[in-house]
Amino acid sequence: MERKGFSSNFGMIMAAVGSAVGLGNIWRFPYIVGTNGGGAFLLVYILICIVIGVPILVSEMLIGRRTKTDSVDCFKKLAPGKKWYISGIIAVIASFLILSFYSVVAGWSLEYIVKSAGNQFVGKSPDEISNLFTSFISSPIKPIAWTFVFMLMTMVIVKSGVSEGIEKVSKVAIPVLLVIVILLGIRGVTLAGGREGLKFLFYPDFSKFTMEGFLAALGHSFFTLSLGMAIMTTYGSYIPDDGNIIKSALSIAFFDTLIAVLAGIAIFTSVFTFNLDPTQGAGLVFITLPNVFPQMPGGYLFGLAFFVLLALAALTSTISLLESSVAFGVDSLKLSRKKASFLAAGGIFLLSILSSLSNGPDTSLHIAGLTFFDFLDKLTSNYMLTIAALIEIIFLGWAYDKDAIYDELTNHHSLEQKAFKAYYIALKYIAPIAMIFIILTSLGILKSA
Ligand code: PFF
Repeated sequence: MERKGFSSNFGMIMAAVGSAVGLGNIWRFPYIVGTNGGGAFLLVYILICIVIGVPILVSEMLIGRRTKTDSVDCFKKLAPGKKWYISGIIAVIASFLILSFYSVVAGWSLEYIVKSAGNQFVGKSPDEISNLFTSFISSPIKPIAWTFVFMLMTMVIVKSGVSEGIEKVSKVAIPVLLVIVILLGIRGVTLAGGREGLKFLFYPDFSKFTMEGFLAALGHSFFTLSLGMAIMTTYGSYIPDDGNIIKSALSIAFFDTLIAVLAGIAIFTSVFTFNLDPTQGAGLVFITLPNVFPQMPGGYLFGLAFFVLLALAALTSTISLLESSVAFGVDSLKLSRKKASFLAAGGIFLLSILSSLSNGPDTSLHIAGLTFFDFLDKLTSNYMLTIAALIEIIFLGWAYDKDAIYDELTNHHSLEQKAFKAYYIALKYIAPIAMIFIILTSLGILKSA
């Protein structure tokens, strides 16, 4: 496979941030915080990002740069004849499944661009805005049509190769998105429910926190940093040889968390201002923010820009999610790029129809008390990503050579890497032990106190 690489370290970071920042930050993070008790969850989440998320991000990037190949092949290269590549296979399947519900939400953002352009939120009560969302996502045709449009765009881009496009879109879209979210946050804090919203997001009330919350925090940190999905390994393979992997990983995690927290501020301040329910789940961003736009100077343009950027942020993520399956199809199954893109996107779209329909009135698409949509989300984020990442770090920490890791992180001893020791302890002990503990407890195998 030809490996073009990114034009600069900054370009690589922006592309990786482009993959990391997406619906996970603006759509998923706030509603997961909402359903898991607010501030206490935020604290646990940030802790998990630092001691587990960042070390795993570093690990994926270093595996990628060391081997310069895709996520299944890289294990075969590092450990020939061993089965560690199973981690890569789980990751590819997970990215396939994730894209099938992610593209549904991405489709919602397109509908909301049209709704904002048509000024449909003005003069509506919070209840009416909420009904607008519910009746849209539960209708049979429209959301599926938008999902189709989104998958088509994704496929066209992936078919013709990604690194250039991703880098270009991300370099512009992410900084602009950051500015808009900051302005929305400022507007939110100055609303009547500002204080209460901030309290909900930042005050850690552990009486509302459950063991489930740990697993959700762990799963979300993988989801949002695009870990356990074969993506950062691939991006890592494009990092310039003189790039600083640990520093890059820290910047990616920092930007990613910053955008999520700002989105959280914007959303929870409006939740409490308009008496909405912070625990309502997947519709949170689509139901809360349309109440705020009409209350802002320039609200029309703001609302429109927000949903356009949400769709763009989603696009930089869907591209990388599809790339994961396509790279596997091209490298491991020896398909042409065109054929692999078409088959992967087609299969994902068919599955997304089920996800979308499961939000409708028909309960035959429910599994284990969850809609098919929510079921896929939980299955992938909470279990598949964690297990793929766990196998990966057990390999790196226990079956791979420490000196080789040091060599890669210091760019062959030409870079001082003070954080190496901390990274290695997290990789070998803290991250795997914490992850095993969280998984076993949430499965009920270990009893929580
Ligand atoms: N990290 C993205 C988000 O938070 O929206 C989701 C994602 C994109 C996950 C790309 C995985 C991936 F490969």
